[in-house]
Amino acid sequence: MERLQKVIAKAGIASRRAAEELIVAGRVKVDGEVVKTLGTLVDSSQLIQVDDTVLKTEELVYYLMNKPSGYLSTTSDDLNRRTVLDLLPVKERIYPIGRLDYDTTGVLLLTNDGDFMNALIHPKFKVEKEYHAKIQGLLRKEESLLLKKGVDLGDFKAQPARVYDVRYDDKKENTHVNIVVTEGKYHQIKRMFEAIGHPVLKLRRERFGTITCEGLKQGEFRRLRPHEIKQLWQLSEFGKV
Ligand code: URA
Repeated sequence: MERLQKVIAKAGIASRRAAEELIVAGRVKVDGEVVKTLGTLVDSSQLIQVDDTVLKTEELVYYLMNKPSGYLSTTSDDLNRRTVLDLLPVKERIYPIGRLDYDTTGVLLLTNDGDFMNALIHPKFKVEKEYHAKIQGLLRKEESLLLKKGVDLGDFKAQPARVYDVRYDDKKENTHVNIVVTEGKYHQIKRMFEAIGHPVLKLRRERFGTITCEGLKQGEFRRLRPHEIKQLWQLSEFGKV
């Protein structure tokens, strides 16, 4: 529970002092009733209106999940398939920041903070995403050079990627490779490897900006820590204002 004037001030529409004046002037309603008493305690489930405009009071929340395979990273599905929200039951309306495919595992961030989400997914902010991919066949040096230069995907040219830690498994005839990109187009990594003749067999996002899944088993989640949220803001130009 918080004081009404503090909640109004936190929503960014008035200073604490101006919020007190709004209350005393009878311009604030809580759950449809005018409240003129300063210091009235309210909680985030209550509807607060200032001059009939509804205040957004939902607490901003930030989660990290180690996404397992077999879950959609949408919030609902017409075909009733499992979504990541089945693993993360919270009362806030949260959305994934940059989706992962049904069969992709690893770092998935979720939030109800729209500005934060935009700052992290907009390509101009160039936040790094690192993936570990198992791909079919032997990845040759000249092929990884294509990825490093920026491979042509037909409808667009991918930004140059960093490719490293390439290990060939000659028994299984596939390659394990790490790749770092700053874009997040639909099926981006799968399309990039497909374009150079190596279908992706398995994909895991190892890192989003500074965040990894260290300490989280697949299907587990936790809140992002305040310093992690700050770091992510700082990674995007948006957050450096
Ligand atoms: N690129 C893909 O192809 N799939 C993902 O899930 C993420 C990035």
